[in-house]
Amino acid sequence: MVLRLAFLSAFLSLLAVAVAAIPKTDYDVIIVGGGPAGLSALSGVSRVRRTALLFDSREYRNAPTREMHDVIGNDGTPPAEFRALAQKQISEYPTAHIKNGTVKSITPTGDGNITTFSVTDKEGKKYTARKIVLGTGLKDVLPATPGLKEAWGKGIFWCPWCDGYEHRDQPFGIIGDLADALGSVLETNTQFSDIIAFVNGTQTPQGEAKATSQHEGWEEQLKAWNVKIENRTISSIERIQDGSTHRNASGQYDKFRVHFTHGKPVERNAFIVNFPSVQRSDLPEKLGLTVSDEKVKVTSDDQRTNKKGVWAIGDANSDGSTNVPHAMFSGKKAAVYLHVEISREDSQSKISKRSGSLSRRELEREAVDAIGDNLESQWKRIQPKN
Ligand SMILES: Cc1cc2nc3c(=O)[nH]c(=O)nc-3n(C[C@H](O)[C@H](O)[C@H](O)COP(=O)(O)OP(=O)(O)OC[C@H]3O[C@@H](n4cnc5c(N)ncnc54)[C@H](O)[C@@H]3O)c2cc1C
Ligand SMILES: *[C@@H]1O[C@H](CO)[C@@H](O)[C@H](O)[C@H]1NC(C)=O
Ligand SMILES: *[C@@H]1O[C@H](CO)[C@@H](O)[C@H](O)[C@H]1NC(C)=O
Ligand SMILES: *[C@@H]1O[C@H](CO)[C@@H](O)[C@H](O)[C@H]1NC(C)=O
Ligand SMILES: *[C@@H]1O[C@H](CO)[C@@H](O)[C@H](O)[C@H]1NC(C)=O
Ligand SMILES: *[C@@H]1O[C@H](CO)[C@@H](O)[C@H](O)[C@H]1NC(C)=O
Repeated sequence: MVLRLAFLSAFLSLLAVAVAAIPKTDYDVIIVGGGPAGLSALSGVSRVRRTALLFDSREYRNAPTREMHDVIGNDGTPPAEFRALAQKQISEYPTAHIKNGTVKSITPTGDGNITTFSVTDKEGKKYTARKIVLGTGLKDVLPATPGLKEAWGKGIFWCPWCDGYEHRDQPFGIIGDLADALGSVLETNTQFSDIIAFVNGTQTPQGEAKATSQHEGWEEQLKAWNVKIENRTISSIERIQDGSTHRNASGQYDKFRVHFTHGKPVERNAFIVNFPSVQRSDLPEKLGLTVSDEKVKVTSDDQRTNKKGVWAIGDANSDGSTNVPHAMFSGKKAAVYLHVEISREDSQSKISKRSGSLSRRELEREAVDAIGDNLESQWKRIQPKN
């Protein structure tokens, strides 16, 4: 009996190193999102030969836009072309895997020290990984106004850096709450001088109070920039010229007619809008991440969420920056931190004789599992005959 125990004990210490609490997973990391954030994270982990699977449901925030701008080296590249080239280059790395698909749920399965996750896709297939990166993005909530959605990213835009320049000096409109009008003027006054703020009935006493709470002296400032306020209720936006075809070296010449519930329409060539955006995916919420103001809270130094082993990058996170360069920067940052975190866990478990995460009881169970029925026969074989 003593010998049997000694034998088991020897086996256990061997196993403690072998098992060593390094969990077996399908991948080191699963990345959700194939926009610039997720692709950048995939590139970063692939260069250091981490195994990674990226899920892409192919719903990209800038999908409707004609061209991507303010991304150095790729100014004017259509977003789909940019992503396709990134995919092609990253796919050269043998540890990088990209899958068209939607992730339905992510469940933490780790022991508290070493994180692991089980990921289920729409088809019900399960995948495991040690780390999770969410680059699931935002989506814009556009009003149902006829003509608006059709023109989104094509003359009607959201960010002056993305699209303003191609329409510079053209008759311009700002659509949205009165309270947001001055903010848009402060961002676009170097691109446009003929500006109408289409505030769509929000110039009410409450609307004005809200504007004052955001910008003291808003009314005088709008006047100083020669901005006209149009308060009538918008009924539709009609395209009368398409800048996709009416374009030359000086810019893109879209033209729209804004119709109201009463009175004459007004023509403009381009618009910036102030509408809300929300998380594209419910995964952050389902995972129990802190989401406030439609942003997944992350630490700015390493893009970590409140859940161990889970990073959030790109538009989805709380950095307060929503553009392609930020998406790439934050994806890269997460890739570095998660790589080192896995290495640190591995390093720790290499030096710990007894596993940090398995109790002796669990180890014994592992031992019996590993050697199975063999133990009995081996023991019999080495038992001295008396
Ligand atoms: C009209 C428009 C024009 C723009 N133009 C520019 C520009 O010129 N320059 C610029 O810098 N920025 C521009 N932006 C901003 C830019 O689109 C975003 O900053 C950028 O796309 C953010 O990248 P991301 O990877 O975080 O998110 P996204 O590019 O939106 O990608 C999100 C990814 O997550 C995937 N996803 C979400 N949920 C799941 C799930 N459950 N399972 C699997 N996949 C999932 C989506 O399918 C997608 O692959 C523009 C935005 C708009 C709206
Ligand atoms: C994803 O789907 C697109 C469009 O059908 C296709 O072009 C692309 O090759 C697919 N990517 C992968 C990795 O299967
Ligand atoms: C304008 O206001 C009306 C009424 O409140 C609303 O239904 C509509 O969505 C708004 N349109 C835009 C473009 O904001
Ligand atoms: C703006 O429109 C709203 C909604 O129609 C209306 O209540 C308000 O009085 C208008 N404001 C001005 C200054 O005309
Ligand atoms: C481009 O087209 C616009 C509008 O038709 C015109 O005013 C402008 O001079 C053109 N610029 C060039 C460089 O052709
Ligand atoms: C985690 O590791 C610490 C230190 O190695 C150990 O004391 C603790 O018991 C471990 N926790 C779990 C859940 O394994």
